[in-house]
Amino acid sequence: MPDTPTTLRFYGDLAVWWPLISPPQEYAEEAAFVAALVQSASIPVRQVLELGSGGGHNAAHLKASFAMTLLDLSAPMLDVSRRLNPECDHQLGDMRTVRLGRTFDAVFIHDAIDYMTTETDLRAAVETAFVHCRPGGVAVFVPDATTETFEEASDHGGNDGTDGRGVRYLEWTWDPDPHDSWSLTEYAFLLRDTDGAVQVVHETHRTGLFGRIDWLRILAGAGFDPMAATEATTEDPTPRELFVGHRPVT
Ligand SMILES: C[S@@+](CC[C@H](N)C(=O)[O-])C[C@H]1O[C@@H](n2cnc3c(N)ncnc32)[C@H](O)[C@@H]1O
Repeated sequence: MPDTPTTLRFYGDLAVWWPLISPPQEYAEEAAFVAALVQSASIPVRQVLELGSGGGHNAAHLKASFAMTLLDLSAPMLDVSRRLNPECDHQLGDMRTVRLGRTFDAVFIHDAIDYMTTETDLRAAVETAFVHCRPGGVAVFVPDATTETFEEASDHGGNDGTDGRGVRYLEWTWDPDPHDSWSLTEYAFLLRDTDGAVQVVHETHRTGLFGRIDWLRILAGAGFDPMAATEATTEDPTPRELFVGHRPVT
């Protein structure tokens, strides 16, 4: 049975490996696309809240254009992000329940939205985005897949650090039951430390899978004017489908 995000080692004791698993420089293109969507708000956008900001790899690019507040459930991931983005405001919290008591010009949820595996959780995260979004502002959601775009796949990768550490991993995504709202990704990591010692870690992540019509209905239900957009990318074989909610001015 997969762990929940609070117990996953990936976002716990293994968080220090995140910059070698998925380096910040690989986020430049998608951050630029997200920045353009964020600027589709009907108010000027300066203050942006990212929910589930992880290691802050998108934020490392977005912070050139916006004042970023970065919120995550994992203290170790926030520590990784603080090292990369010391000028950003970091907050510990759960995107389903957090209430920061202030609003932003835009709210952004990247792949962390994948950890919403039930419609109840997805609705709660979208409601959090709405509550923190100023009238005239915008929210951008970037799930890795929808029911329509999901493909069973395997991938591998990894990087070496300047400190002698290195990572190689295999990632294998499959959907045990196409009729429910989640799929699974099996990760196998080889983590080589500075002294050359290698540890092997296997971890299963359960991630949400919702249809386009469900996304649009949930965004509308929260009060957003919803739309779907297809990612412009030179990298992925299948471009992702993104969801954008404009909060009406009145
Ligand atoms: C793949 S990482 C995000 C990486 C991020 N896109 C970046 O730029 O580095 C997913 C993150 O979602 C966070 N997360 C999962 N469930 C969450 C929740 N309910 N509230 C806030 N963060 C959550 C995890 O702690 C993890 O840091």
